[in-house]
Amino acid sequence: MRLQKFLSAAGVCSRRAGEKLIAQGRVKVNGETVTAMGIVIDPEKDAVTVDNRPVRLTNKKEYIMLHKPVDVVTTLSDPFGRQTVKALVADVGKRVFPVGRLDLDTSGLLLLTNDGELANRLTHPSFGVEKEYLVRVKGLPAGETLKRLAEGVELEDGLTAPATVRLIKGGTGTSLLSLTLKEGRNRQVRRMLDAVGHPVITLKRVRFAQLTLDGLQPGKWRRLTPAEVKKLKKTVGLLKSFKSKRKT
Ligand code: URA
Repeated sequence: MRLQKFLSAAGVCSRRAGEKLIAQGRVKVNGETVTAMGIVIDPEKDAVTVDNRPVRLTNKKEYIMLHKPVDVVTTLSDPFGRQTVKALVADVGKRVFPVGRLDLDTSGLLLLTNDGELANRLTHPSFGVEKEYLVRVKGLPAGETLKRLAEGVELEDGLTAPATVRLIKGGTGTSLLSLTLKEGRNRQVRRMLDAVGHPVITLKRVRFAQLTLDGLQPGKWRRLTPAEVKKLKKTVGLLKSFKSKRKT
């Protein structure tokens, strides 16, 4: 098994994040640091560590929804000692990693799992998984501005994909918008609104695919129900829906 696949199968992180860990020299195989990509290991025989902690394959998958408060970092450890999402889900009792990220100053729905394949697909732009944000912005965006946000805004990393935008409450001081994106670039909502001249004041993710926060308080987490996990998997083609063919 390729090393990065092993890391994701063991629930350390997604495959792409695994490549980063390897490149950063944090992964050892049988005591030797490995930085080359594509190394093949035998999960039965080889001893793999990340940051000197042993990694083993685990079967039980965990799927967690966290209401991330602002001022909590979406990482598993923080060199500046800030509170991390890992600390908030410590009582899950299993190692889980965040699916994508929310900025330090963004609150809302964050998924965590040790299912590397699902995490990969949910964050891959080709699956176009919907993320809905409640955004308080400075000023009152004009109809033309909302149209620009929906059709595509030119950012330094290219034109944004079509989005759904709704003005919930307009005001001259600040306004409240709902913005639904199918991509997840770095600080995308903030950059889109900066680009149209309405900087973000507060940002909260209220939906990820079909999942909503639905009363979950900031700082709290819950396990997804089996039905929710099934729906998520279907969204990214990991479960085929099939009808039983019964003979009559
Ligand atoms: N867009 C942003 O700008 N920040 C987030 O945290 C999420 C989406």
